[in-house]
Amino acid sequence: MSFTIVEQAQPRLNRSELAVPGSNYRFIEKAADANADVIFLDLEDAVAPDDKEQARKNIIKALNEIDFGSKTMSVRINGLDTHYMYRDVVDLIEQGGDRLDLIMIPKVGTAADVYAVDMLVTQVEDAVGRKKRLGFEMIIETALGMANVDAIAGASKRNESLHFGVADYAASTRARTTVIGGPNPNYGVLTDPNGSDQRDYHWGDMWHYAIARMVVAARANGLRPVDGPFGDFSDPEGYKAQAYRAAVLGCEGKWAIHPSQLDLANGVYSPSEEEVTKAQRILEAMDQAQKEGKGAVSLDGRLIDIASIKQAEVMVKKAEQIAA
Ligand code: GLV
Ligand code: MG
Repeated sequence: MSFTIVEQAQPRLNRSELAVPGSNYRFIEKAADANADVIFLDLEDAVAPDDKEQARKNIIKALNEIDFGSKTMSVRINGLDTHYMYRDVVDLIEQGGDRLDLIMIPKVGTAADVYAVDMLVTQVEDAVGRKKRLGFEMIIETALGMANVDAIAGASKRNESLHFGVADYAASTRARTTVIGGPNPNYGVLTDPNGSDQRDYHWGDMWHYAIARMVVAARANGLRPVDGPFGDFSDPEGYKAQAYRAAVLGCEGKWAIHPSQLDLANGVYSPSEEEVTKAQRILEAMDQAQKEGKGAVSLDGRLIDIASIKQAEVMVKKAEQIAA
């Protein structure tokens, strides 16, 4: 292990994160009963410029009046390049009460962006005497943000999670696609003919690098990596396949841009009973191995060693978090 210890952000379940436009009070009310680990009430891209002020009022009213139970509550503020953003922060903290847990910062480009929001949030929190410090979720969704992802991840003690904003990321990198998330038929590999007429075409995952890069930056800084939106809400299989790919790369959860995606996300990001039982057996086998002075043993015909303990502990801890 390195001499540098990675401090972990406040642990929270983040399997599913429901996006709710702040401009629609009815949607916000309905979201209170949804099966989401985290809800983010949106002031940014789901809200038209003329509705920004009303959306801010709706969110403040909702945070004061609606019972959101034990869900983690977040608000996506507007970007730092807009004149809405300072007022979002000031009004939310001055009038939003104590219920808010997190602020989501969109289109973060540099560590200085996080620093700037941190300064503003700190000033307003101190001025109103807010005891509960707000955490930050940051969306990595521009080429600049991805280029600076390590510095962004380490930019504030408030940082809790990084989110992959695939739609804006595609626009920023000028990727040749107009869909929100998922694979693209033009991103494929045609197998070598090898002297035969039979050639296969395999679809690749065009988001692999971006998600894997973000996961590394998040984990190296003790943050949760979370996969962003999947636009086609009438394609649950496509959603699940994307969610599993991101989970296998290390993500802890995925956005839901429609309530029907919540159960899919919760299902994918909860370890199955089988996985938990296997993890427990690994821990038992390694416990026994260590008592016998061995560093590695075989379980079900496969090698397990001290690294397997850490992998298994991640699985068991997640199951405990869900059961709590
Ligand atoms: C999310 O904000 C995205 O741009 O995908
Ligand atoms: Mg976006």
